Amino acid sequence: MTQIRPRRLRTSPAMRALVREVAVRPSQLVLPTFVADEPGDISSMPGVNRLTVDDVARQAERAAALGLGGIMLFGVPSDDVKDADGTQGWAPDGILQRALRSVRSAVGDDIVVMADTCLDEFTSHGHCGVLGESGTVDNDATVAHYVSMAVAQAEAGAHVVSPSGMMDGQVAAIRSGLDDAGLQDTAILAYSAKYASAFYGPFREAVTSSLVGDRRTYQQDPANRREGLREALLDLAEGADMVMVKPAGYYLDVLSDVAAASQVPMAAYQVSGEFAMIEAAAERGWIDRRPAVEESVTAIVRAGADIVLTYWAEELAGWLR
Ligand code: PBG
Repeated sequence: MTQIRPRRLRTSPAMRALVREVAVRPSQLVLPTFVADEPGDISSMPGVNRLTVDDVARQAERAAALGLGGIMLFGVPSDDVKDADGTQGWAPDGILQRALRSVRSAVGDDIVVMADTCLDEFTSHGHCGVLGESGTVDNDATVAHYVSMAVAQAEAGAHVVSPSGMMDGQVAAIRSGLDDAGLQDTAILAYSAKYASAFYGPFREAVTSSLVGDRRTYQQDPANRREGLREALLDLAEGADMVMVKPAGYYLDVLSDVAAASQVPMAAYQVSGEFAMIEAAAERGWIDRRPAVEESVTAIVRAGADIVLTYWAEELAGWLR
């Protein structure tokens, strides 16, 4: 009897290239970038720095020259300007708005400029919104602030605003707020299925987070797959232009579900902890860094991501050239 031999298609690099199902493109990669008044390195994220408003413009130019698809900006205000409402999040001279203006004047439309639309970097207590009487985040009061933030970000030059706070109704409210302000062309990338993950640890160092406690009353339980799809379908109904699953590598089932159901581009965020683990193991010589990085991003694309946010975006784009 003739044996079936799948190995025939693995016999040479040329044959393997011919039958390869997915390939990562630089134009689908987005570089998450931190901008701060007090720049510096981040010990748990080797190679990633908090940049000044001037340096971030140079960073955006490098990203555009490498052919990256986008740059996602996070603002890191100094502690003394944080307050309970996070008002620096929408102040015209807040760190993120200054960064957006600086980046847009440097790169114009050569790369898609995105802004994280969330209050946790700006609040004194570190939560993603304003605290109600019970001490939990007040959904509707927070959404009103997100609308102010999204409008301020779009006016400062963001092509895309990215609500990441997991408040109910945030996408619909931001859409109508942008439209009322005449900002119909500003797109919304919704962090639709965002889990209460332990893998955001290094990010909290990056943004000098003041958080005490956790985000489990608004971010999703890591045990819930079906709920991720529900959140994404709600954001689509509310007008999201793109949807995202976060973290990426440990949530490929959710990513695959949402990608199959979504009629808009699908994004995934390979978060700080996913980055730091490979970096730490590679530094010890326990893992071969480049193939591990490539495999981790290829797997996210294979599972259905059209867009990948990754701290390795620049390096990957360099390898792909
Ligand atoms: C919220 C936000 C977080 C991340 C991106 N946007 C932190 C959080 O939800 O606690 C984490 C990203 C990462 O870990 O790389 N503004």
